[in-house]
Amino acid sequence: MPIEWNEEDGIFHLFNDRTSYLLQIVHRKYPAHLYWGKRVHTLQPASILSFKGRTFSPTAESTNKQFSLDTLPQEYPAYGNGDFRKPAYQLRTSDGSTITEFVYDSHEIFKGKPSLDGLPSAYVEDDSEAETLRLTLVDSKLGIGINLFYTIYRDLDVITRSTSFEHLGTQAVEIHKCTSMSLDFHHSNWDWLHLHGSWARERHLERQPLHHGVQSISSSRGASSHQHNPFFALLSKDAKEEQGEVYGISLVYSGNFEASIEVAPYETTRLSIGINPFDFIWLLKPGGKFQTPEAILVYSSAGLGGMSRTFHKLLRARVCRGTYRDKLRPVLINNWEATRFHFSERKLKELTDGAAELKIELFVLDDGWFGHRDNDKSSLGDWTVYQKKLPHGLKGLADYVLTKGMKFGLWVEPEMVSPDSDLYRSHPDWCLHVRGRNRTLSRNQLVLDLSRQDVCDWLVETLTNLFRSAPISYVKWDMNRNMTEIGSAVQPPERQKETAHRYMLGLYQILEKLTERFPHILFESCSGGGGRFDPGMLYYMPQTWTSDNTDAVERLKIQYGTSIVYPAITMGAHVSDVPNHQVGRITPIQMRLSVAMAANLGFELNVDKLSTEEKLTVQKGIQLYRKIQGLISFGDLYRLLSPFEGLETAWMYVADNQQHAAVFYYQTLATPNPPFRRLLLQGLNPKQKYRLNNGEKVFYGDELMKMGVTLPLVKTDFFSEIFEIHAEN
Ligand code: DGJ
Repeated sequence: MPIEWNEEDGIFHLFNDRTSYLLQIVHRKYPAHLYWGKRVHTLQPASILSFKGRTFSPTAESTNKQFSLDTLPQEYPAYGNGDFRKPAYQLRTSDGSTITEFVYDSHEIFKGKPSLDGLPSAYVEDDSEAETLRLTLVDSKLGIGINLFYTIYRDLDVITRSTSFEHLGTQAVEIHKCTSMSLDFHHSNWDWLHLHGSWARERHLERQPLHHGVQSISSSRGASSHQHNPFFALLSKDAKEEQGEVYGISLVYSGNFEASIEVAPYETTRLSIGINPFDFIWLLKPGGKFQTPEAILVYSSAGLGGMSRTFHKLLRARVCRGTYRDKLRPVLINNWEATRFHFSERKLKELTDGAAELKIELFVLDDGWFGHRDNDKSSLGDWTVYQKKLPHGLKGLADYVLTKGMKFGLWVEPEMVSPDSDLYRSHPDWCLHVRGRNRTLSRNQLVLDLSRQDVCDWLVETLTNLFRSAPISYVKWDMNRNMTEIGSAVQPPERQKETAHRYMLGLYQILEKLTERFPHILFESCSGGGGRFDPGMLYYMPQTWTSDNTDAVERLKIQYGTSIVYPAITMGAHVSDVPNHQVGRITPIQMRLSVAMAANLGFELNVDKLSTEEKLTVQKGIQLYRKIQGLISFGDLYRLLSPFEGLETAWMYVADNQQHAAVFYYQTLATPNPPFRRLLLQGLNPKQKYRLNNGEKVFYGDELMKMGVTLPLVKTDFFSEIFEIHAEN
């Protein structure tokens, strides 16, 4: 997995057994993109570049009329000296100009992968897992360096990229734009795919052919958002689940981002992702440094499924961290949909009793346990127990839960403050706001200004005391609004547009401290469901509440879409009450269970009110879940039927050694007089014999993959079936 440098031609070749990424320093100045894709062995890689003078494309060098930056496929392009496509970065210098001239200065190749200052990133456990190239461009007039970092992993088709700006000059500059990566493909015959949505409808798939000009997705909400996940992929026209070429790019960041694709006049395709340049300016003073978030670039020659499995492996094992990274997660019960704000200690104990009977392992107390919170109008910021509801305190309840053989977990929403709170009354300037302007409420709350160190310090201490006040094994970290009036009382005017990014740095710092202090706590992030489901949050909290929408039918789409990037072990999935709170639909308990069992299983309903028959179904479901949880958590995912394409959904998880698999099949609505159908499996060893569900018949792997298994003809809506496959040795 080396990175080779051919000094004569100025070519870098990053490769492992399956992937190559080639770039060239053209004319010893300009980093040009040559190739990214399946592993190649090259003798003449530079011949991929063609040069021709084009009318209206300026010449970068007066002696060479054929050479223009406007047509050069670049790695980190500027605007203002001949390339009219979207630039990767833009600085404003002290004379008011945005013209810069960054050219190749030096490079370094080293084993391993450095971490990013104050930001989450993919990591290695051993330096032999990856190799890194630092490519430095310098504008000698400004005395500023731009470091482009490229890391290639040995065992995964992953390249990570990030950029840092280092100021060794004398005049301050403003960074107006600084993508984490940019590159130009040599053609534009692609589709692109991204994950869009809203609250309760997160990460739906959208695939479209590229059109000329710019297509982009972004967030300016102060969170990665329900609306657009910080991810997109380019797909060859023939790409499907298990075939074709796919290039996926994801940003390890939880705040405002922009991902952009530009098809230029000569059919090249420029890709970039990074902090959203809209409403962002960073003042870089002499001696200062600015680090962008990291982008993860995944190449797959095995379709979307191949891309997803690579993302899953990386996120699961080299982005998520901590005690729970490699552990099966507890089956939990959360009281939110059962009680909302209206609970008493007695009610919570009843829920605990019901859950213990079903062998649920963790009880989570959700919103409404603090201050005087009876609804969403008060108390965020006052993290002291609401005595009226919990007369024996958190510890009293937690101790009771422990006596039932379960663990205790707690909901918090630390980034927020209610105007009706002691915290707000004593520190009205601790929230994001602009002096003299309205403070716009959302869910009756304001956002604490985490760009301030004093606010971060206060939060770390307050939460440390809280987490020590009771035997807490799990924390659900919620965040229920997006940002408005993004300004900070402590920053000078010229730094106000840094606030949104400084907020993220503050949040990451808090999470780093707390996760280090409480390694035994399993943290689950949440933002009104999946409004901040991104690799940045997963670096600190290894699972995320996927969506507030717990309807089994809607969840098929949400979990399927989420699985495009994120592994099942990062998704929280709960069985909730019917009629469903979000869509009013009534689905049988088995269907709800089968959907929630495809990720981290939990419950969010009055278990004590279930019928005896339903309880039996739940007990059997949990028993089966315990048998296949390892597969779901650490196996390879194959998506078989898409809920976006019909009334059926199917997916399966296969163990690394292909000895064990679990197949999930769902039919949302019955169709009259349906045809006979077979489900073609994936990911098995073609030559291996397998037994289905411990039944009588044995099949070869290729039989199951090419001829398939017969699907039942059922005359019922909301049908689901889970079956296991064991290798026969
Ligand atoms: C939004 C979360 O997504 C819900 O699960 C619940 O915790 C509520 N917030 C509580 O306010």
